[in-house]
Amino acid sequence: MIGNDIQYAASLLEQEEVVAIPTETVYGLAGNALSPNAVSRIFEVKNRPSFDPLIIHIADFDRIKPFTTFIPDTARLLAKHFMPGPLTLLLPKSDLIPDIVTAGSTQVAVRIPSHVMAQALLRRLVFPLAAPSANPFGYISPTTAQHVEDQLGDKIPYILDGGPCKIGLESTIVGFEEEKVVVYRKGGIAVEEIEGVVGEVEVRSHSSSNPQAPGMLKSHYAPSCPLILGDDLIALAKQSPEKRLGAITFRQPLPGISESRQVVLSPGGDMAEAARNLFAGMRQLDKLNLGLILAELLPEKGLGRAINDRLRRAAAGR
Ligand code: TXA
Ligand code: MG
Repeated sequence: MIGNDIQYAASLLEQEEVVAIPTETVYGLAGNALSPNAVSRIFEVKNRPSFDPLIIHIADFDRIKPFTTFIPDTARLLAKHFMPGPLTLLLPKSDLIPDIVTAGSTQVAVRIPSHVMAQALLRRLVFPLAAPSANPFGYISPTTAQHVEDQLGDKIPYILDGGPCKIGLESTIVGFEEEKVVVYRKGGIAVEEIEGVVGEVEVRSHSSSNPQAPGMLKSHYAPSCPLILGDDLIALAKQSPEKRLGAITFRQPLPGISESRQVVLSPGGDMAEAARNLFAGMRQLDKLNLGLILAELLPEKGLGRAINDRLRRAAAGR
């Protein structure tokens, strides 16, 4: 059921149920982070492998202390600039956080969403919320309540509707080595913005066979139809034997393909708008039963880097 009753969502969460919640990045599938029962239900609903840890969500930085044993100065500095907002900090976990949340890791991922409904909900609860994106494992993250309903509606008691997500990409995940900052997942806060605060950072978000953050898994965020990337999509479209072609482009539709099968991310060339439209666009095309989606990379800067990361993972989907 979709609704906007924060009190009802809170009461379900207090009973160890899972509830989909809006955040400014993407919708989350939330449960009491301190309850192994609730957390295991999240894994079950998402069909998520138990080795892939969950982010915990709290209302403000003042509430972080019980959940971590140490906060580097650079983490405080980043928190001051970007929290609440689309940033996640990896910090040493305290014993209060069950191992199932962190998949056995000694680090816990902590995020403070800025969405007003998420804030209101978290302030009503006496526990943090563990919440991965509210999609089946490996699929595209949801940016509306309806996206959640389409795939998980029959498995969860309630979807809190907070409207379309304003950022549309998951949070940027950063960790710390001493005071050095490492970006593990590019997301809603651009790497350049982080560097503007702490100086140069290392970006380590490329996939590996043993990922530190499984959001780093190469094949992820994938539609069910194959997607390929190219510089010259017009030439690719001409060469392709596939008749049911779709396209995702930055500013302009491709000639020769029906516009009903194309998603233009931002005609005005605005990266934030492109980010907001990306996942909904991928879902929209995925419904059309296409044979192949052609996609164009954005300029490799600012949010464009995070958008390109998601497009590359979608392309690696098969
Ligand atoms: O914007 C977001 O971050 C959204 C909203 C709902 O908050 N959440 C989200 O969660 O994207 P999820 O589970 O789809 O992606 C979280 C990523 C995963 O790749 C996971 O592996 C990584 O964070 N992660 C979580 N805890 C971790 C930990 N302790 N160590 C390393 N990576 C961790
Ligand atoms: Mg996810």
